[in-house]
This record gives sequence, structure tokens and C-alpha cells, in this order.
Amino acid sequence: MKWYVLRFTWLSGAGKTTLSDAVFDHLQKSWIQNIQQLDWDLVREHLTKDLWFSKQDREENIKRITFVAWLLTKHWVWVLATFISPYVNLRKYVRDNTTNFIEVFVNAPLNICEDRDVKGLYAKARKWEIENFTGISDPYETPENPEIEVRTDLCSIQEWVNQVIAYLQEHNYIAK
Ligand code: ADX
Repeated sequence: MKWYVLRFTWLSGAGKTTLSDAVFDHLQKSWIQNIQQLDWDLVREHLTKDLWFSKQDREENIKRITFVAWLLTKHWVWVLATFISPYVNLRKYVRDNTTNFIEVFVNAPLNICEDRDVKGLYAKARKWEIENFTGISDPYETPENPEIEVRTDLCSIQEWVNQVIAYLQEHNYIAK
């Protein structure tokens, strides 16, 4: 039995959680039962409540999550992690400190993510009611060599999932 860390990255509103949820469902239906989703709201509520969104705090946030992912994979659990993780060096840290790391670039142009504004945070960031907001007042360093890139503005959710599953099957990470 193999296990993997799938790391969904990009801006707020890109579709990271939607894709992670759909991949989770697909894997469960494929008889993979040991899966843990690590989502930003759960983690920031319980594990990193003391942290905010400065560069230093984001680094600490990702390092703690990486440790949890490492613990889980030691026990053969698949991890689906949805975090902006905006810096290249930080994502490299995750790759270097977990086993079987797969980076999923959940891509959509900033203006599309902003138009979706599911949580109303972009509107607040534009009015300077939120500081250090990724894509608006804080940087995001685009992934250089993601294993998977999904354009969530160009196709349906089912097609996003199909792309991820096709990658996992092609590399024999899951059965066809
Ligand atoms: S990360 O940069 O440290 O990886 P993380 O993924 O945990 O960020 O949290 C991102 C989520 O926090 C966003 O989806 C958004 O809902 C919320 N959020 C609140 N403030 C900010 C901010 N300043 N920048 C980005 N996201 C923020």
C-alpha cells in the first residue's frame, strides 16, 4: 500500500478545498480509506490559532502542518492539504520534509478568484480592512514545477478531479 501527500496551492477562491473534497470522495470510492484532509480553517482554528498572515507566521503555519503531514504518512495515511503556501522555498520545505509529495497547482487568474470572492475577503482586502492579503497586498510565488496543474476557470469540477486522478493512475499511485 502506498500513500501520498497532495498539496493544493494557490490563491483564496481558486478552488483548493472544492478539489480536495472531490478527490477525497473519489479516493474513498476507490477503497482508499486512510485519508486525512488538512484544511486551513480546521488547522488555523486548532493547531495554529496563535498565527496570523505575516511572512514569519505563514512559515510557521506551514512548518507545523508539514510536521502533522509527516506524522500521518508515517502511519500510511494519505494527506490532502489545502493551503495557500505562497513561497517557493516554503513549498520546497514541505517537499523535503514529507514522503511522496505531489504539488497540485490549483490555478485560476487572480481576477477570477477575486470575482468569486466566496468569503468576501477580497472586497475587504481592497478596502485595506485586511492586511497582507495574498494576491492583493502580499506576494504569491507561482509554482515552478508542480506535478499537476488544474485550471479551475476553464473546465468543470469533474474535469479537475479527472486530471488529478489520471495523474495518480498514470504513475501507478492508485489502481486504474
Ligand atoms: S498560508 O499562506 O499560511 O498558507 P492558509 O492557507 O493557512 O494561508 O490560510 C489562507 C486562508 O485564510 C484564505 O483562504 C482566507 O480565507 C483566509 N485569510 C484571512 N486573511 C488572509 C490573508 N491576509 N491572506 C490570505 N488569506 C487570508
